[in-house]
Amino acid sequence: MSTIPTQPTPVVQDRRRRALSDLRISVTDRCNFRCVYCMPKEVFGSQFQFLPRSELLTFDEITRLARIFVSLGVRKIRLTGGEPLVRKNLDTLIQDLAHLEGLEDLAMTTNGSLLTPDRAKALKAAGLQRVTISLDAIDDALFQRMNDVDFPVQKVLLAVDAALDAGLGPVKINMVVKKGLNDTAILPMAAYFRDRRVILRFIEFMDVGNTNGWRLEDVVPGEEIVRLIHQEWPLEPVPPKHLGDVASRYRYLDGQGEIGIITSVTRPFCQHCTRARLSPEGQLVTCLFGTHGDDLRSLVRGSASDDEIQEHLRYLWAGRDDHYSELRRSLTPGLPKIEMSHIGG
Ligand code: GTP
Ligand code: 5AD
Ligand code: SF4
Ligand code: SF4
Repeated sequence: MSTIPTQPTPVVQDRRRRALSDLRISVTDRCNFRCVYCMPKEVFGSQFQFLPRSELLTFDEITRLARIFVSLGVRKIRLTGGEPLVRKNLDTLIQDLAHLEGLEDLAMTTNGSLLTPDRAKALKAAGLQRVTISLDAIDDALFQRMNDVDFPVQKVLLAVDAALDAGLGPVKINMVVKKGLNDTAILPMAAYFRDRRVILRFIEFMDVGNTNGWRLEDVVPGEEIVRLIHQEWPLEPVPPKHLGDVASRYRYLDGQGEIGIITSVTRPFCQHCTRARLSPEGQLVTCLFGTHGDDLRSLVRGSASDDEIQEHLRYLWAGRDDHYSELRRSLTPGLPKIEMSHIGG
């Protein structure tokens, strides 16, 4: 019998017969970090124009759209940013989303800087199910160099504990690996998180946006990362939980947990990509590497009914043909791409 999970019958399918089952909602384009691979200070410094508040979708607008997405088959919603916890009163939005009938998974990707024990408990009480925390090194000096705002690693490690204590699990850690920058942190990160009930995922540095100076030479292939860790602590592959999951899973043979690798560059996973993305100002983006979005805000702020919006989304999804990671840069030469910090990965 195959161990690969199958998909339920989809409500809508795109041109590559992929369902719409995940929605990633970016609630702000702002972040209190300036990670060198995501929001380099030279670009996102004091002069950078972030979106004015009036441009952002309100929580009611987000919830209305999310409800329509759920009616089209979305079962998982992930809140992202920028840094989602810098958006005021986020718990209110979480409460509303948690009540959506049919939604099975409500998660958040955060840098952890604002995730105190009280905040974690409040998020859990509001209905958030789990968090993924970004952390690129365990060495304080290196981590501070990467976030570029002198943020100490200890505070993020406390946030991980806060998330575990609040029941926001399974807690995952996202580590972006860039050659020559933090590849020395791979083994120390694995050593730290191995027996701590968290799933550490290594992400290949991707060519998202226009500002991070991406080069293929800077990518450490996921397979290499697995080999490196396997030499130290033997690993074996684990089957995916859901078709379309971005991470390939491995577990430690000595029972000390699992890791994941996200190989968007060396082994793309577009074939089963069921993710739609909603930007802070209400653009629908059907691929992380999109060059533009579809303006849903003007629909929700206009006179369109829910049925009309649903029909529009159906039409957009049915026309989707994105598979950028399989094509890489040949697809969008010279075109401006949406920044990672805007669309939340
Ligand atoms: P789980 O629900 O726990 O599986 O979370 P996730 O892995 O879907 O979400 P997360 O925000 O932790 O994403 C992990 C990394 O994978 C981030 O760097 C994302 O940018 C990247 N990623 C997520 N979805 C896609 C995608 O559709 N395409 C590509 N190329 N990368 C993606
Ligand atoms: N390549 C890979 N991952 C990235 N992220 C941000 N920029 C990049 C990039 N260029 C990650 C963040 C976060 C997730 C949403 O995306 O570290 O964990
Ligand atoms: Fe770093 Fe995430 Fe902020 Fe980008 S959005 S600067 S990856 S913390
Ligand atoms: Fe999906 Fe685009 Fe990522 Fe491929 S590159 S997995 S189509 S978001």
